[in-house]
Amino acid sequence: MKPLRVGIIGTGAIAQMAHIPNYLKNPEVDLVAIAEPDEGIRTRVQQELTEKTGHAVAAYADATELLREAQLDAVSIATPNMAHIDLAVAAVESGCHVLLEKPMALTRDSADRLQTALEKGDRVVMVGQSHRYRNDVTALKRFVDAGALGTIYHAEARMIRRRGTPTGWFTDMEWAGGGPLMDIGVHALDLSWWLMGKPVPTRVSGHLTRAIGADHLDFIGRWTAKMPHNQDNAIFTTEDFATALIRFQGGATLNLTVSWAINGPQDDGLKVTIYGDKGGLTLEPAAIYSSDHHVLTDTLIPVGVGPMYQNEIDHFVECILDHQSPRSPVADGRTVAQMLVAIAESAERGEEVAVRR
Ligand SMILES: NC(=O)c1ccc[n+]([C@@H]2O[C@H](COP(=O)([O-])OP(=O)(O)OC[C@H]3O[C@@H](n4cnc5c(N)ncnc54)[C@H](O)[C@@H]3O)[C@@H](O)[C@H]2O)c1
Repeated sequence: MKPLRVGIIGTGAIAQMAHIPNYLKNPEVDLVAIAEPDEGIRTRVQQELTEKTGHAVAAYADATELLREAQLDAVSIATPNMAHIDLAVAAVESGCHVLLEKPMALTRDSADRLQTALEKGDRVVMVGQSHRYRNDVTALKRFVDAGALGTIYHAEARMIRRRGTPTGWFTDMEWAGGGPLMDIGVHALDLSWWLMGKPVPTRVSGHLTRAIGADHLDFIGRWTAKMPHNQDNAIFTTEDFATALIRFQGGATLNLTVSWAINGPQDDGLKVTIYGDKGGLTLEPAAIYSSDHHVLTDTLIPVGVGPMYQNEIDHFVECILDHQSPRSPVADGRTVAQMLVAIAESAERGEEVAVRR
């Protein structure tokens, strides 16, 4: 069978770190085209790809042209958040399978729009919720699916950076649609909700604040967006801290807390704890807490994170070739978007709100 013709829309940091190298490793894929408005980035990536693939890789300034002309089977969308849904809908309508970076959608309506576009055809649309593709997460999910936790009644999800505000468009509300909530909160919420078995959210109490804002301290490791916009974080219109309590049908609850900057201990990584009446789990470290033979048991799962981006890309390709639905589908992205929007609404109103669907 001929390899899939794949293109990438938005060839900045995550495309260069995760999408491009892992498509290049996949023998079922031929990376044939990119769309990137920034001329410097476009020319550099096109040259690199042409060298690495050994054939001319087409480069477009405009994604619409790429979708019209490049005869793609599949496309990754790795642009700033605001462009995600319009591009994903256009890609599906042009007949492409789509791997769409997180956050899938910033509003309820736009999430609905992608779901509707998807239902009209048979394309695979997968949301880049990369943490679902970690080896340790895959291992823990097997325990959950086998009933090791019993009835789940509470979860906690945290990604707390002492300092680690990304530079670039991420702090500009117009491009990002939210701060750590949309950037890392979407990972923490998606993963913990999925591990809980995707309960139906009902009500949310959220709080967002911009307590610290732009800082220019030395010796801080930060994610740096490649798009040449707001590189000094002079525009800082998002929150830098978010916390929420989410209630689900059946009574379970989830506590989410994420920050880009906080005056407290660094607690980086993705910390998830899930409590059930038979057992519990933690991620980082991956472990199951239970009891057996009338004694408490703690079972460490010595499986590392693994190559999560490679797993993600390989899964996307496999879903296309085998006509499977992906592990991180649009329907899940839609529910997660509904919860994120409800958190922001609750924070704005200063009271608990219903999750509207
Ligand atoms: N899954 C993960 O772990 C992960 C990690 C980092 C970023 N991301 C997500 O990836 C996306 C991109 O983030 P980034 O850090 O790579 O940003 P970036 O600024 O480095 O890259 C985005 C690129 O998109 C280009 N672009 C802007 N508008 C475009 C358009 N309309 N069409 C085509 N290209 C366009 C920009 O010029 C830039 O080169 C974001 O949505 C972010 O949330 C995901």
